[in-house]
Amino acid sequence: MEMTRLFRVLSDATRFRLLRLLTREELTVNELAQVTQLAQPRISNHLKILREENLIDERRDGSWRYYRVEKEKLSPEARILWPSLEETWREDNTFAPDDRRLETVLEARHARASSQFFDQLAHRWDSLRQDLFGEALGRAILRAFLPEELVVADIGTGTGYVLELFGSRARKLIAVDHSETMLAMAREKARARSLTNTEFRLADAEDTPLARDEADVITVIQVLHHFEDPGRVLANLTHGLRPGGTLIVNDFLEHQELWLRKELKHRWLGFSEERMKTWLRDAGLTLAGWEVLPGHAIPLETGIRTRIPDAFTAVARRPSASTG
Ligand SMILES: C[S@@+](CC[C@H](N)C(=O)[O-])C[C@H]1O[C@@H](n2cnc3c(N)ncnc32)[C@H](O)[C@@H]1O
Repeated sequence: MEMTRLFRVLSDATRFRLLRLLTREELTVNELAQVTQLAQPRISNHLKILREENLIDERRDGSWRYYRVEKEKLSPEARILWPSLEETWREDNTFAPDDRRLETVLEARHARASSQFFDQLAHRWDSLRQDLFGEALGRAILRAFLPEELVVADIGTGTGYVLELFGSRARKLIAVDHSETMLAMAREKARARSLTNTEFRLADAEDTPLARDEADVITVIQVLHHFEDPGRVLANLTHGLRPGGTLIVNDFLEHQELWLRKELKHRWLGFSEERMKTWLRDAGLTLAGWEVLPGHAIPLETGIRTRIPDAFTAVARRPSASTG
């Protein structure tokens, strides 16, 4: 473009303003109208001229058209001129209102883009969160609510799932299991998490593995179905619970999934709500909570689909000394 034509284009105050803005940001006609407070048709006319003179570029995104000055694409004449124009624009205070409104427009654009982004992400977020954090995030949040002075005894600890739940938050974690290998894995988990509050007991849960009044909380998670006489074990364990302490039992409700007997050596095909509540009452405990976790279908390694039965979580309290 010749210099004279270039100066003619720049000699218009509105075009001068628009070029300044479009050198800084890529903007739509609508956004330019908000920043300059000029009518859109007037802006469109000027943009048309600027486009014809190859001073600005247009980019389409969906139904939006964005305009900007691409300095690398300017004509050699314009490129010579641009640094001094930019210096003038920087030092001229008359553009300050444009700059303030530009900030507001860009903030609104960011907010809009952000909510649109999350509108699209919503359908994938549950699985993405699972990929990113697994269950660890929920556990960490719930752990923050736990009182810190608890002695927690986990009966049939297995590989130490309950150690993960309570972590270093408990004063002491007593992990009981009769399998050396399970206990070794739980120990490894505690070591990997730098848990120094753990004590491991290789013992049979049916042989009263806790001292009297030793624990504030006793957890029996997916273990009860292995005992010959679960009611008797619960009554024995209750002696290890301090007055006012809490017993938490999680297991399956009555079901007909024989594969659990065959594959995982369950002696009991779950327990009825009535039976569980009777055992807890007979152990001298007061039921404080009962929650059912609905079962779900799962594919087995054999390819056969089967069901994980409904499970319950019972929370029961040993009456405190004054009331018990
Ligand atoms: C299905 S695993 C559950 C492990 C853990 N509670 C969990 O939820 O991940 C059952 C555990 O109970 C233990 N167990 C079964 N009968 C037991 C008994 N009589 N005394 C001690 N532990 C027992 C097993 O060794 C095994 O580690």
